Amino acid sequence: MLVNAIATPSPASLSITPRDRRFGRDTAAPRLWHGGRVEATAIYNALSTTFPKGEAFFVESVRAFRKDAPPKLAEEIKAFTTQEAIHSREHDAFNKRAERSGYDLSALEQRVEERLAITRGRSPIVSLAATMALEHFTAILAHQLLADPRHLAGAERETAELWRWHSVEEIEHKGVAYDTWLNATRHWPRWKRWKLKARVMLFVTRNFVVDRTAGALELMRQDGVTGLPAWAMLLRYLWVRPGMFRKIAGAWLKFFLPGFRPWNEDDRYLLAAYEASAGDGLQPERKVRRAV
Ligand SMILES: [Fe+2]
Ligand SMILES: [Fe+2]
Repeated sequence: MLVNAIATPSPASLSITPRDRRFGRDTAAPRLWHGGRVEATAIYNALSTTFPKGEAFFVESVRAFRKDAPPKLAEEIKAFTTQEAIHSREHDAFNKRAERSGYDLSALEQRVEERLAITRGRSPIVSLAATMALEHFTAILAHQLLADPRHLAGAERETAELWRWHSVEEIEHKGVAYDTWLNATRHWPRWKRWKLKARVMLFVTRNFVVDRTAGALELMRQDGVTGLPAWAMLLRYLWVRPGMFRKIAGAWLKFFLPGFRPWNEDDRYLLAAYEASAGDGLQPERKVRRAV
């Protein structure tokens, strides 16, 4: 079956709005900014290490197909590009602060560069597929982060704000890479499209889980926590409590359903909740529930 148009684009009323904010320039966050916890600080730092180069890659992959995009999507790609460029800037600043507090991020950065070099060696459509898969990943992580304040409980206030701000914009532009992918492959048979997206998703998920776990363990080592205790702390944090990886598993699986579209999950209520509290730096007191 051929798809001649984007089946389910982003909601018509959605506006992708870059929020040019700066974080942590005037305050000195402690080295263990996440509540003094080694494993929590390590996994977020490991994640942040991927963003400057990773998000530049996302932008490059999507923009390669912009010429072919209908006007609305081309505009969304522009806004997506601006958002990701600002995210890169802020996470670069965040990473430099982590380095100033004594962490050596070079091994983690090198791993990111190696992965990107391999992907760039493939065709542009594979890069777009990898971006589309990773954008789903970031969107479901962002959803969890905003929906359940336990993920950032105890974190230094401005650093927590950085992660919330980034999460909001990841949700806001979550349909862009996917719509670009649908448009770029609109003449493909459905089975061929599904096969490539499923294979790429399995591949990037494996790399994401393996690399971020290894990166976090390396940073924990730099804090003097190694071996079995390090593994136990980290796995408990990721899979049990607060259990980010466990909690995104269901949303991750939905990607493989034939009718999947990022906006099948309309989580704009999280954006509204953020806007209602944005700027005051206060964490919502309770888990944010879907507005009915
Ligand atoms: Fe981003
Ligand atoms: Fe993104």
